[in-house]
Parts: sequence; C-alpha cells; structure tokens
Amino acid sequence: MSKRSLLLFMVVVLLAGACMKKPVQLEDLKSPDGQLSLDFKIVGNEAPTYALLYNGKSVIQESELGFLIKGQQELAGNIDIVSVDKEVVKENWEMPWGEKREVSNEYNQLKVGLKERKAPGRSLFIVFRLFDDGLAFRYEFPEQDSLKDVFILEENTEFNLSGDHKCFWIPGDWDIYEHLYNTSKISEIDAIKYRNHNSLAQTHIPNNAVNTPLTLITDDGLHLSFHEANLSNYSGMTLQVDTANLAFKSCLVGSDNHDYKVAVQTPFVTPWRTIQVSDDAAGLIESDMIVNLNEPSVIEDMSWFEPMKYVGIWWDMHLETKSWDMASGKHGATTEYAKELIDFAAAHNIKGLLVEGWNTGWEHWIGFEDREGVFDFVTPYPDYDLEEVARYAKEKGVEIIMHHETSAATETYTKQMDTAFKLMKSLGINAVKTGYVGKILPKGEYHHGQYMVEHYESVLKNAAKYNIAVNAHEPIKATGKRRTYPNAIAREGLRGQEFNAWSQDGGNPPEHLPIIAFTRMLAGPIDFTPGIFNIKLDPYKANNQVNTTLAHQLALYVVINSPVQMAADLIKYYDGHPAFQFIEDVAVNWEQSKVLNGEVGDFVTIARQERGTNNWFIGGITDENERDLEIKFDFLPKGKSYNATLYCDAADAHWDRNPQAYEIKELEIMSNSVLPIHLAPGGGFALSLIQK
Ligand code: NOJ
Ligand code: CA
Repeated sequence: MSKRSLLLFMVVVLLAGACMKKPVQLEDLKSPDGQLSLDFKIVGNEAPTYALLYNGKSVIQESELGFLIKGQQELAGNIDIVSVDKEVVKENWEMPWGEKREVSNEYNQLKVGLKERKAPGRSLFIVFRLFDDGLAFRYEFPEQDSLKDVFILEENTEFNLSGDHKCFWIPGDWDIYEHLYNTSKISEIDAIKYRNHNSLAQTHIPNNAVNTPLTLITDDGLHLSFHEANLSNYSGMTLQVDTANLAFKSCLVGSDNHDYKVAVQTPFVTPWRTIQVSDDAAGLIESDMIVNLNEPSVIEDMSWFEPMKYVGIWWDMHLETKSWDMASGKHGATTEYAKELIDFAAAHNIKGLLVEGWNTGWEHWIGFEDREGVFDFVTPYPDYDLEEVARYAKEKGVEIIMHHETSAATETYTKQMDTAFKLMKSLGINAVKTGYVGKILPKGEYHHGQYMVEHYESVLKNAAKYNIAVNAHEPIKATGKRRTYPNAIAREGLRGQEFNAWSQDGGNPPEHLPIIAFTRMLAGPIDFTPGIFNIKLDPYKANNQVNTTLAHQLALYVVINSPVQMAADLIKYYDGHPAFQFIEDVAVNWEQSKVLNGEVGDFVTIARQERGTNNWFIGGITDENERDLEIKFDFLPKGKSYNATLYCDAADAHWDRNPQAYEIKELEIMSNSVLPIHLAPGGGFALSLIQK
C-alpha cells in the first residue's frame, strides 16, 4: 500500500480513566452523523449490557455481554468500570483491487475497561465503534495473572431485537454455508429442518442457529445485518435463535475433539461483532464497515495480481460430460483441451484459465474416509503436460489458475503447501483455487471452527510469501480479511452455480442472487461462476437447469463483487454468440460502485466504474417476478456522451419457459438520460457504457 493511502486525518481524544460509581451508565456514544447511539451500562452486580438506537428508536434492546470460560466462574457480573477511553477516527485507505478504490473509515470509539470486584479479578476491555452505517464491538483481554491459557466454552453475546423482524437466513451449519436462504420472521426460524440435505458432502447443524451475514428488515423498513469482522485465532460465530424472545445469542462453532470452543492465551482480542444499520437495502451493500474493521495490508506489493475473468475445465465436470479423475475414461484436464481453452481466452479478452482435475488422486476423493496423503498437488495425470500448458498459456498471455482440492485433508495440505506453491511459482502461476469438500480431517473438526480458521489463514500467509492469490471454496466466511491479506481474492461460501447442474432440489431459485447480494455478499467477494448461456443444460442434464434468464446471467458480472469472474459455460455456447460480447467487455476491477436500486430478495441494480477508465457497467437482476425499472444516470459526468449497449430480456422471456430470449440494443446515454427497462420473471439486464 502506498504511503499516500495511509492515514489522512485522525483525531484522538482521550478521556482519562475515570472510576465510576454503580449503577453506571456511560454517556452516549454516537455515530459521526449522530443517527446511531450506543447505550452501555452496568447495573449493580449484573452483567454489562449494551443497547443500540437509530434516531432514538431501539434497534438492539438491552443485551448482555459475557463469557463462559472452562474451569472458571462465568464472566458476567460483579464488575467495575475502571477506565473509559474515547477516540474519533477518520481515515482513508486504498483497495489494491476491488469494488472501489478509495475507502473512507470513519467512526467514534468507546473503549471500556472492566475488572471483576472479587477473585479471580479478571480484566477485559469492550471496544465499541459506531460508524454511520452500524455498530461493531469486540472484547480485548489483556495479559494478566488470573487469566493465561483461556478455554472459552461459550461467548455470551446477546442481540435482543425490538420486534419480530423479517429475516433472510441460512442455518448455523458448522460445516458448510451452501444452503438456500429462507425468508421468515425471527419467531419462525427453524434451522433444524435443514439437516440431512442430500446434495451436501458435509453438514452439521447442532441447534436452532443461523449463520452470518444475517439480514433483517424491521416493520419500519430499517435494514439490519449481523456479521463478524476480522475473524482470526477464534472460531466462527453462529447466532442461536430465541424464537420466543426475538433474540439471538452468539453460539461459537466447536469441535468434537474437546469440550471448549476456542483456546487462546492472553493477550487476545475476539473478532468484531457487527450490526449494520441502513434506511434502505442499497445501504447494506454500500457499507465498508466489515472491511474497515480489519488491519491494513501486510502485503506491500500486490501488483503481481491482476483481477481477471477466466474460463475453465470445470463446468464439464459438473455436467458430468468429463471427470476430474482418469479412471472414468473421460478425463477433462488434458493438454489438448487446456490449449483449446487458452486459445479461446486469448481471443476473447479473458485473462485466466482454471484447470481442475489436473493432478493425481481424484479416484480417491468424495466418499473416502482415508483422504490424507492422496493429493500431492505436484503430480499431473499423464495426459496433462503441466509445463507445456503453462508455457503455452504464457505465450498467449493467459494466466493459469492452479487448483488444489484438498478434500479437507488439512494435514496433507499443510505439509504439501510450500512444495505446491514453489511449483506454482516456478511455472509463473499466481493464483490458486483451493477446495475443502468433505468432512474435515482430522476427524471431529468442522469447517468453521477455530482449527480451520487458523488453517485458512495459514494458507493465506504462506501463499503471500510466494505471491499467490487464493480463491477458497468451502471456505471460512469472509470477514474483511482481504484488507490485511489482499491475496484473499475471493471465495465461495454459498450455494454456487454448480448446484444448478446437479442438486436434486430444483437448483437455485430465481430469487437466489437477489438474496445473496444483500446477505452473503456483504461479507466480501464471491466466486459464484456466472455466465451459463445453455440455460436448460440440454442435452446433458434432463432434470436440471439454471433458473434465470440469459440476461440475468450477464448481469451477475456486475452485481456480484469479485476480482475473479468465471465465464463458466462450455466455450462452444459462447462461440459466435452475440451476448458473449458483454462478458468480453465487462471489467473486473472498479474505481467506484453504486447501488442504484434494490430490495432484499426481490431485485437489485448495481453500477460500477471500471478502474482506470471512464467506462461504466451496470447489472440488474430480479427474482421470479417481472419488473419494470427506470435507470437514471446522474452519477455520470455531466455533458459526456456514452455509447451504450443494453443486453436485456426479450418481451417473452421467462426463466423457465423462455430463458434464452434476449435483445441487444445500441443507445446513447448521458447523465440526464432515463432508461426504462423491463425485466422478465427471473430476468435481468446488463449495460455497458463506453465513453465517447
Ligand atoms: C467444490 C467446488 O465448489 C467446485 O467449484 C469444484 O469444482 C469442486 N469442489 C471440486 O474441487
Ligand atoms: Ca462448493
């Protein structure tokens, strides 16, 4: 990161550590614009509590904060406030790649020092940050004699809601986020019904909890989203649902190998618990709070990574026309096929090629218990000439994206990682897609527990040493760590496009992405793999299809935030197809992004300006309902004229009955233009604006 992008402006106001009397109510902390206020207090011997208000209205009612630590009494009361520090921060920083260049980080902070009155006299700080777009808080445990090795049984952070809000939720699965979102009242959340899904390689839903980001809408139309930021050296947080009292409580992901959920040593800090607050749905997407709550980049030079579109030897496997393994006789990753794709990419402004199934071991993948030691990430199948493909790609200006399916055999990957990254480096390969399909090995660990949080982070740190960017599938949730490790380019962590090829539950419904944009996408970049043109998947999959129109697929290149965007379909469906022009043209790295309209689960339109040019790209999608939108262009510079190409649903398009019916229109657009656009059921539109 450049010096210029470092701290621009920071004011620090320190209020001396004042000793307070009980019952103690601290003076309000307000957000910079004054709309949000925090109410932190301790009454008598009770646990510390916080409450959050928006323009005087309750968002979070009085909620307790505390911990259950192994071998110790509950840390929940009999506590004094021993210090109060306030800080006002306003800084700007620059994303090396992403949905915008300049990020503003502005908040008011309250750091409360607490100490137990009686033995063991433990100390901790609770740090609150109020941004204009939400509240974040975390616990900080200083080094202390009475607390050295800490085994956390549970973190008791409560979120008491002020009503029975509408929620967009997935179950608090400890092993996978690849569930369809449910829309219900808090009082109706039933995560248990998601157990035993027949299309998941691993799943574990121990209680009625939900995963984050969790998005809610109040009866007053306030939009909230609960998540966490800067998850390190801790386990992921699910939210246990109290349907009777309309409340959530942190429920950390555990392990079968011990009775505690997190093992740490003082000093340590927890991840930030975050509550985004916005008047409208668009504000949730435009918030930078999650990424702002992470430390500045530790990778000085990211110039080796360039955001890219990519094709792949991938969809073939999900359609089952080819396979990852060789024994089937239809091996996908051959030198010949890779070269064909490299030629296609080079001819169509596509920078990357992902090759899955290139290395030996796939015969012993899904369904095997003994997966350690199977993949070595350096030995190609005999029909795939790794060096030759890398050489050919370089000659054509295409970058290979390496693939490491670890099969969740983490000990093998930890052992092999350096060797594998060295090989990549020697071949000039700068990006890897990792995968963790199956139950985690060692047995008893879960994808979202502390063991895996540390594993995923160690992969990022090691990869950074070799200038390697990581796109993780079956990952831990994104919590803004891309600010600290910008080589964390994207991840899955949702029901991706692949489910449309093989799931037995009808695939992703048309509302899937209109929900994802306001839920999972708030966490960070998504490798969703859009761009399927052969919507009905004929002749390969009689019982499956993509449940959107073709124009909706195009829109996803703009709606979805990611510095790597796959053109996922078989290239024969792109060759000569007029709509493919949009995929060729669309950018993947942005100067700025604006959410033009949207409602959670219904529709959304996003406009993004390409970094380094004055060109804009706009994508809009709708759920199963058709819709008429009016797009205004007041974000464009005044007086400038743009050559616009609109890719929209044809009048009779429909996600099921006529998904491939689209139209292309050439237009001239200026900042005062207004463009009416019709979106078909499950439809969408994509618009490129090239400045004249
Ligand atoms: C699951 C990933 O999500 C998918 O993209 C990949 O093709 C398979 N695992 C194989 O690694
Ligand atoms: Ca997956």
